[in-house]
Amino acid sequence: MTNRARKPYIAGNWKMNLDRARSLDLIKTVKGRLGDGGDREVAFFVPSIYLADVTAVAQGSPLGVGGQNLWYEANGAFTGEVAPRMLREVGADRALIGHSERRHVFHEPDDWMGRKVRAALDNDLLPVYCIGETLDERKGNRTDRVLKRQLESGFDKVRPEDAHRVTVAYEPVWAIGTGETATIDQVDQAHRTIRKWLVQRFGEPAANLIRILYGGSVKPDNARELMAIDSVDGLLVGGASLQAETFLPIIEFDR
Ligand code: 13P
Repeated sequence: MTNRARKPYIAGNWKMNLDRARSLDLIKTVKGRLGDGGDREVAFFVPSIYLADVTAVAQGSPLGVGGQNLWYEANGAFTGEVAPRMLREVGADRALIGHSERRHVFHEPDDWMGRKVRAALDNDLLPVYCIGETLDERKGNRTDRVLKRQLESGFDKVRPEDAHRVTVAYEPVWAIGTGETATIDQVDQAHRTIRKWLVQRFGEPAANLIRILYGGSVKPDNARELMAIDSVDGLLVGGASLQAETFLPIIEFDR
């Protein structure tokens, strides 16, 4: 891997899958294959109930472990929610914010996103801020508008000096879990729109530190070509991150 300005970032989002034993097995296997993590960043986003066990097994390796969601307050009457400091306490070092399923299944509105990203940063969690258009929005030529609106809300409270700690994941809703991957051209165009917005917002030096991942039906057989797109800095993988046989070849996309 040469000429990459940003370190490749390959992350698995388990969603509400696996069980405790299989989670720990997978962490052990991946950890054993990682090396020193110098040339790529690898992480899993894990159900909160397994975080403490998973981070204990991942300890001593460069493997990142994160929560799949958080609430932005430190404590209070928020039944069912998890505070950023709680994620930290069980060893998480990062968190997904605004995943498509949070937005579309659980109806999280745009105006929570800025506070969630800010709360992650304030608690030493690296946010991966997820954005992406629905099929209707794409068909109605509204992709750029939707991405910019989601960027506005998520980066609302991010300062240029925080920028290097934030990652954006572009996940077109219609490509998630459907087996349908966006075309190279669609991915590149969306990533360029996002990069341009980041440069306008933060200036080139800070914006250049922000990685933009692609997610949506990433598989061992398309990881290499997705990573070959200049504007793609990494991958956010759902289904194919649940087994070592499918996730390891994605991590090792260039071998
Ligand atoms: P799939 O890889 O299963 O399409 O899921 C993508 C995703 O939502 C990752 O966050």
